[in-house]
Amino acid sequence: MIKDFNEVIKSRRSVRFFLGKNIKTSIVKECIKNATLAPNSSNLQLWEFYHVINDEIKINISKSCFDQPAAKTANQFVVIVTRKDLWKNRRDFNLNFIMNKFKDLKDKKSRRKKKNAVNYYKFLIPTLYGNFLKISGLIKYLNVSILGLFRPMYRQVTSSDLRVVVHKSAALAAQNFMLSMRASGYDTCPMEGFDSVRVKKLLNLPGSAEINMIIGCGLRSEKGIYSEQFRVPFEEVYFEK
Ligand SMILES: Cc1cc2nc3c(=O)[nH]c(=O)nc-3n(C[C@H](O)[C@H](O)[C@H](O)COP(=O)(O)O)c2cc1C
Repeated sequence: MIKDFNEVIKSRRSVRFFLGKNIKTSIVKECIKNATLAPNSSNLQLWEFYHVINDEIKINISKSCFDQPAAKTANQFVVIVTRKDLWKNRRDFNLNFIMNKFKDLKDKKSRRKKKNAVNYYKFLIPTLYGNFLKISGLIKYLNVSILGLFRPMYRQVTSSDLRVVVHKSAALAAQNFMLSMRASGYDTCPMEGFDSVRVKKLLNLPGSAEINMIIGCGLRSEKGIYSEQFRVPFEEVYFEK
């Protein structure tokens, strides 16, 4: 069921009660593929998607979400995970793509473009993501703060800044997923109310992985929409400059 885009946006709601009906795993998987098409920082794709369909794992995920209604009644879950630790692997993936795609470039302008892209992944990304010393974040922060007095500088260089960077991209993937689900006639509820330690253990995730969001999926029950959608007045959040 392909809906008009505005209708998809407007009919997406956080659904807290799902009907006790099955949704198609293959359709949810397609929506996860759409999630991977979200814009993401430096195309490093520092994310993973865990599609939970196993009954025992579903029960335990729900328990880890404190059995809140959106979890207890969900037919499936999608757990979006950030993997900042995979930056080298994903950097190499980008480098290989650039090398292969542009290997036969002859003209000067294109070769320069390729060189810039390669340098970005070879030097800039490791400077940002590499944590050669425990205090390297502080050193980088001081460095950009001083240089930033004289010229515009990229300032998100500490380890906690980079956590924000990867979670931003993962949240965009989450939205791609939820809108794709709605366009397919399915419903979702994003959740951050969960015990991350328990969920990581359930999914066998390494310590460096972080849970971005757990998304309950299913078919909406009308009692699962708690009220009409309401937002603060647009003028309060919109600034024309
Ligand atoms: C990051 C994030 C975490 C959320 N966590 C929960 C949650 O744990 N439980 C829940 O019932 N809703 C959760 N929500 C849903 C919000 O409460 C909901 O999006 C908001 O009330 C607006 O309603 P709407 O999505 O229907 O427009 C979360 C939403 C986001 C974006």
